[in-house]
Amino acid sequence: MKINCLLLFAFITLNVIAQKENIDTRVENLLNQMTLEEKVGQLNQYNDDGIATGPVTPDGDKEGQIRRGELGSMLNVIGVERVRQFQDIAMQSRLRIPLIFGQDVIHGYKTTFPIPLGEAASWDLKAMKLSARIAATEAAAGGVHWTFAPMIDIGRDPRWGRVMEGAGEDTYLGSLIAKARVEGFMGNGLGNTDAVMTCAKHFVAYGAVEGGRDYNSVDMSDRMLWETYLPPFKAAVDAGVSTFMNAFNDLNGIPATGSSYLQRDILKGKWNFEGFVVSDWGSVGQMIKHGYVKDGKEAAYAAITAGCDMDMESRSYKNNLVELVKEGRVNIALIDDAVRRILYKKFEMGLFDDPYKFCDIQREHDAFNNPEHTKASREIASKSIVLLKNENNLLPISPDVKTIAFIGPMVKEYKPNLGFWAIELPEVNYDKFIVSQWDGVQNRISKGTKLLYAKGCDIDGDNKDGFAEAVSVARQADIVIMSIGERWDMSGEAKSRSDIHIPGVQEELVKAIQATGKPIVVMINAGRPLVFNWIADNVPSILYTWWLGNEAGNAIADILFGDVNPSGKLPMTFPREVGQIPIYYNHFNTGHPAATDSTLFYTTAYIDLKTSPKFAFGHGLSYTEFEYSDIKLSKGKMKNTESTEVSFVIKNIGKYTGDEVVQLYLRDRVGSVVRPVKELKDFKKIRLNPNESKVIRFTITNDKLCFYNQKLEYKSEPGEFDVMIGSASDDIRLEGEFELIH
Ligand code: BGC
Repeated sequence: MKINCLLLFAFITLNVIAQKENIDTRVENLLNQMTLEEKVGQLNQYNDDGIATGPVTPDGDKEGQIRRGELGSMLNVIGVERVRQFQDIAMQSRLRIPLIFGQDVIHGYKTTFPIPLGEAASWDLKAMKLSARIAATEAAAGGVHWTFAPMIDIGRDPRWGRVMEGAGEDTYLGSLIAKARVEGFMGNGLGNTDAVMTCAKHFVAYGAVEGGRDYNSVDMSDRMLWETYLPPFKAAVDAGVSTFMNAFNDLNGIPATGSSYLQRDILKGKWNFEGFVVSDWGSVGQMIKHGYVKDGKEAAYAAITAGCDMDMESRSYKNNLVELVKEGRVNIALIDDAVRRILYKKFEMGLFDDPYKFCDIQREHDAFNNPEHTKASREIASKSIVLLKNENNLLPISPDVKTIAFIGPMVKEYKPNLGFWAIELPEVNYDKFIVSQWDGVQNRISKGTKLLYAKGCDIDGDNKDGFAEAVSVARQADIVIMSIGERWDMSGEAKSRSDIHIPGVQEELVKAIQATGKPIVVMINAGRPLVFNWIADNVPSILYTWWLGNEAGNAIADILFGDVNPSGKLPMTFPREVGQIPIYYNHFNTGHPAATDSTLFYTTAYIDLKTSPKFAFGHGLSYTEFEYSDIKLSKGKMKNTESTEVSFVIKNIGKYTGDEVVQLYLRDRVGSVVRPVKELKDFKKIRLNPNESKVIRFTITNDKLCFYNQKLEYKSEPGEFDVMIGSASDDIRLEGEFELIH
């Protein structure tokens, strides 16, 4: 058996090497035939004339350039037919080099899954891999070769609108999710008709923009960069990500797009990344606005020198690289390297063998109408919902309850359920395709149950005209479900908010309904952690539903009526007030650690606010309860060449079958640089029936104990470690300790 496996492994490895050599030869042959203009052409990506995800550069001659072989890629070209039109033109060019078509397939293509931050709340890596897999299948069938995903920026500031696209604040969780998503999109590998090229973005530290204002500057220590912001990108490289996108922000004064340190030294140097780097939309030209270069020519020079291979939309490469090479300022070897990387991917995708490989109308039709995709979307959506609070077990609701009032501005909406970065396909009737929250609940309740509706108010604005009707509807009901939140386009790119309270008069509407004395369940739809203290303190049951995708209504009904037991856990800390931001669970202890939630003279406290967040990282309840006991460590002392096993027992002591995400946190008590109060190092999502118990084991290896020291060496240090097993970062159930010996 062992020998068979070894032979198989050797066979696969030899095959991969042979395939690589074959592609390398084909790339070299082609490169040798290319003019300088054709080479530079490959390094450009233009938007189609329809939808745009950034400021478009007017260009009346796209088709001419494609025909002359002077364009490498396009984005936002929607649908097989349109892709075919452009590819047809590329096939009229001298060397018939196919175009690659990129698209922001962020959380689904036609089938729309929860926003990535919502999916991250599932802590279910298999589910996330599956949603990426399905998105890739549909996108590839729709003509897309390349997704600008996954977005793997660590986000610790909920004012930043783009936290909705990422996996939250934690580096460990974020790295695993990065891997899962890359693997999901690529399936059995590039070259298959259901695999798309991936793009790890935005390289790097974009999530740390000052004040959470999009596109802003970042000033950060190297140690923070290496420890917190780079690891998800390294995980993406290790998982075989095809491309990288650089970022809009400057990092310590150098725009990421023009940073040799990031792109040449780290990515292509230390990490040996063999794919190519695309700029963010217009970010090459934006270096002029940064005040980093004086004109487009210098922008092109700075970016190509720094290792940015493809210019998305700015035309800096198109307008200047040929001249820069002719003048001898840019060595042709730099251009050749960038072209090689791009051509390699085109060969790997099989586009030279069949440029229309992704243009099969029948496959597009089949992929868009696959009931398995809808089923998966519903399952992942229900796994993403987080039960923040459930006093007196108000939830789940019996589907036989006599009268339910369903109130709020989100109840009867369709498209907003998709959230930001959803793809709009012209031929899809979204009202038919999306299950609204109303439809989902209506379909689930028993025949004898009456469902009443009132909108109450809009998401924003101060109009309270609908309050009276909403109150009267609530009075007729046995239980009230309310669906409120921020508008779908209040989070996303360029959607930073200084005020992250629930907008408009929605919280007042909740107060008015609460005054009726009826039991209330509030569902909050949002792309980021919001602040809603009154609701959190006064309403008995709260569900955080993010933006759940096209199956939103069904997933919500599954949770409300207990067909699915909630299991989501927050991937980001929820602050009490904006003034607490940035707030994240794995902070340092400081010299004045807060002893209680409200003690003064402590650096982590404000005089007007408790120290703790409103809801902590990792928090999320279930309809059942779990009891943790019997923690054991296999060793009290561990050498750095050894491992220690932590085991404990978890038992479902409630009435419902449920999933729990058990979380392992470690703390290095003393380090040559200060260490966080706790760090997530492992987790497992497990299912238990009532009364069932299981022994859970985590293995602590030396790599879980390493960190970047003052010399930026990634090493562990001898000393004592705390072991914490929790249901959330602020709900540690079991503790232990061990000593590391070198
Ligand atoms: C965004 C990228 C996106 C690109 C193309 C930019 O504005 O920052 O994340 O991939 O547009 O749509």
